[in-house]
Amino acid sequence: MSGIRDTRRSVIMGDITEQRVDAVVNAANGSLLGGGGVDGAIHRRGGAAILEECRALRASRYCGGLPTGQAVATTAGLLPARWVIHTVGPVHSAAEDRSALLASCFTEALRVADGLGAESVAFPAISTGVYRWPLEEAAGIAAEAILGARTRVSEVRLVLFDDRALAAFRRAFGTA
Ligand code: APR
Repeated sequence: MSGIRDTRRSVIMGDITEQRVDAVVNAANGSLLGGGGVDGAIHRRGGAAILEECRALRASRYCGGLPTGQAVATTAGLLPARWVIHTVGPVHSAAEDRSALLASCFTEALRVADGLGAESVAFPAISTGVYRWPLEEAAGIAAEAILGARTRVSEVRLVLFDDRALAAFRRAFGTA
């Protein structure tokens, strides 16, 4: 198990569905049955095979849905990646500190990636869209979780969808 020092990290602008990596991470919801944003794009571009495996997970291990902060892998279907690692970010709350749940999305996705033998993983900015996390705060949590993770993944890619998110994540990862 290499420390983070052996893991190449990059912070780029792009579309998570176009990433040529072993695994792309989906900003899913607990139903695992699709949605908008990243979730919608992955299911739309990845095709029916992803949803079929998600439905099978709901019929077995995750009959109550995937809990917030946990991660599970399926095929990536028609995407360039080999797997999709679905994780459920916390909805932002001003009243409750849910940062540990957001950090868990990154560390659990890396744990699942290690279990698959995935060497490269692409993350979107989990919880910063529909789930309304402020970008700076979410970027800091993502950076701390990824930089502190012990993983065999040799390449971690943060894939941002707009300039504001790119700037926030570059600041957080020190690549501004
Ligand atoms: N590639 C990369 N990033 C993307 C893409 C894409 N194709 N589409 C959207 N994003 C960015 C958004 O701009 C945002 O910064 O991903 C980030 C996460 O946004 P959401 O996809 O809305 O995810 P999240 O905030 O975690 O909310 C999850 O939204 O789509 C539903 O089913 C999903 O209920 C779940 C909730």
